[in-house]
Amino acid sequence: MDILKTKADMQAWSAAKKKQGKTISFVPTMGYLHKGHVSLLEIGKPLSDELVLSIFVNPTQFGPNEDLDAYPSNIQNDLDLAQQAGVTAVFLPDKNEMYGPDYQTHVSLDHLPQYLCGRSRPVHFGGVATVVTKLFNIVMPDVAIFGKKDFQQLAVIRQMVEDLDFNIRIIGGEIIREKDGLAMSSRNAYLTPEQRASAVCLSQAIRLLKQKVAQGIRSVPDLIREAEAFILSFDHTRVDYIELCDPKTLEPVETVQAETLVAMAVQVGKSRLIDNALIELA
Ligand code: PAJ
Repeated sequence: MDILKTKADMQAWSAAKKKQGKTISFVPTMGYLHKGHVSLLEIGKPLSDELVLSIFVNPTQFGPNEDLDAYPSNIQNDLDLAQQAGVTAVFLPDKNEMYGPDYQTHVSLDHLPQYLCGRSRPVHFGGVATVVTKLFNIVMPDVAIFGKKDFQQLAVIRQMVEDLDFNIRIIGGEIIREKDGLAMSSRNAYLTPEQRASAVCLSQAIRLLKQKVAQGIRSVPDLIREAEAFILSFDHTRVDYIELCDPKTLEPVETVQAETLVAMAVQVGKSRLIDNALIELA
């Protein structure tokens, strides 16, 4: 497994593989890998000759009061997991390598970032779109795999790839969960044992909403009220948002549609946790 720390080395590595006729799968991450990340590597492995993982905690996608400085890191464990998953190259740049002192170009989308997480994280998706554009130009993959855990991020990337004509196939990987339903996240590491117990409220609220829809409830305000009361019945929780929306445009809906995305962000202690699921009417 090759470890590349500069953009020039990574680009040269990918260019050499392409010259040999090899294809490249790519999984971008911010490290502190868990089974969710590994599942994306497993999707990418059989799709191409080469499998590239990037680990970079991208400062431009964090707001001023977010957890950039506290973001967890364990590079040695990440490299061990990468090796086991059959990664052939890890791109491990530092902040100065990715953003020079005169950096001034940003990728932004008009609509998708206005909804869901974008409301409380106004700079987030611009930062994601910008860094992923850079990573795509550096790694030059044929296929890139993103998790549905960050449903809005996946929508932003798909739109950006279409709008900016990247010749890259985007694949969405299913959400990997702990046994009790909590979606795996590097940010779960911040949870104290009591907060960890409360963190099941997101997946359980989604289950509750699905049950209510199965019982015939279609009014979104009614559904949201039920889910919010349920989540607030757990200690240490504060609801950022609970929304039912169109899975393509992310626009909120008033009544449950044939395909509706339920998405939520809940602050549990210091961790802001997100979860989502598609509700499909039979
Ligand atoms: P990060 O949070 O490290 O996530 C990297 C990838 O793993 C993302 O595509 C994310 O959706 C996916 N992922 C995280 N938890 C998952 C889970 N439980 N199940 C399935 N997939 C999961 O997302 C980012 O990093 C960054 O925004 C990045 C795209 C790297 C740009 O900086």
